Amino acid sequence: MDSLSDGEPVIRVQQSGPLNGTVRVAGAKNSVLKIMAASLLWPGRYTLRNVPRIADVRWMGELLERMGATTTQEGDVLTIDVPEEMTPEAPYDLVERMRASIVVLGPLLARFGEARVSVPGGDDFGHRPIDMHLRGLEEMGVSFTTSHGYIEGRVERLLGTKVLLEFPSVGATENLLMAAVTAKGTTVIDNAAREPEIADLADFLNAMGAEVQGAGTSTITVHGVERLHPAEHTVISDRIEAATYLVGLGLAGGEATIDGARPDHMEMLVEKLTDMGMRITATADGLWAAAPARLRSVDLSTLPYPGLATDYKPLLVALLTTADGVGIVTENVFAGRFRYVDELVRMGADIRAEGHHAVVRGVEVLSGAPVRAPDIRAGAALVVAGLAAEGETLVSAAHHVDRGYQDLVGNLARLGARVELVAGT
Ligand code: EPU
Repeated sequence: MDSLSDGEPVIRVQQSGPLNGTVRVAGAKNSVLKIMAASLLWPGRYTLRNVPRIADVRWMGELLERMGATTTQEGDVLTIDVPEEMTPEAPYDLVERMRASIVVLGPLLARFGEARVSVPGGDDFGHRPIDMHLRGLEEMGVSFTTSHGYIEGRVERLLGTKVLLEFPSVGATENLLMAAVTAKGTTVIDNAAREPEIADLADFLNAMGAEVQGAGTSTITVHGVERLHPAEHTVISDRIEAATYLVGLGLAGGEATIDGARPDHMEMLVEKLTDMGMRITATADGLWAAAPARLRSVDLSTLPYPGLATDYKPLLVALLTTADGVGIVTENVFAGRFRYVDELVRMGADIRAEGHHAVVRGVEVLSGAPVRAPDIRAGAALVVAGLAAEGETLVSAAHHVDRGYQDLVGNLARLGARVELVAGT
């Protein structure tokens, strides 16, 4: 039990199934983080509901607090008090911990005409530039300088313009959208990301008095307004968390109801899982799914929404490891993102990964092993893979999982999985 000796959180998983029961998904991490950043646009008190209790929300709260705001979370309700006077700066220690901090750039420039944000580094996903964020903001009138690892932006008044994104980047779309709400004139973001989290952000901005049209499509039009006001908002549910339970079910077999899930945000995933042999139907408050003892392999390609999300990929690769046949997985969004493959191979999976492709040959059963979570989604993928592995799987560095899941272990256990947190907090 060496892996438990350092107090690091470890998730112990034993072969499980068939699963049965009901779970509820929390609010979407990738929605609430941006909505929290958007609160910087105008002083006052904001109330957000359906906010997951996860590390990333605490860190974004810490970032807002360093700038001068106050945040309080009780249950799933987050209150943010945004003052008149703030320090428009995102320091190195927080940006380094959470890349999503870059989305404060747009709102800070809109509100204060200046912002100082640490340059985000690379990560397990490979080299992740922010050139599209900066170019779009420059087109709106911002001047940037970079020194001592910080980007400093200045602008007299943001000006509405047409910005054509080279790729439908989620973060760039969000930064530009937030910058545009109080800009002078109309901003059109073309080739915008279409993720449901972008539409959720736009709904929040509109509740603040912004005039955003077309969010959720490739062309977002923002008519700049002079004034905003604080707002209340209920965050959409986390489609990646819902996918995690679906994949867990696919690996262990059985049936489950996932309350709060939005099948309309997960159409391509539902189609793929159905092709693999799962049955999935919408319920009044989410979805119901059933999986046979063994699924069939399919080929998969990640794409921006409404394509198959790159965040589903580690989960789906885990699912293919025990499916019948061979599946070819192609990554089209990030350069890296196959690191967890080596961990799955340690669990007996037959996977060959090279560049953007992985070939997964299904085996009858995986073999429990100590493995390490490289990031949030890959960590969750290793946990659910453990459900289909003989013996015991110990997933170390499980703090990565806490960044995005309020209670992965508890929810899987609620479905009858033999999983527990055995060290750390
Ligand atoms: N890109 C550039 N230049 C830019 C911006 C992006 O080249 O200026 C590239 C990236 O390097 C990447 C691709 O464009 O290859 C897509 O990146 P995107 O900007 O869309 O991703 P992101 O905003 O950094 C968000 C999510 C990720 C999710 C991606 C793709 C948040 C906080 N993060 O990242 O989610 O994988 O969109 O859907 O919303 C996660 O939740 O664990 C996570 C990593």
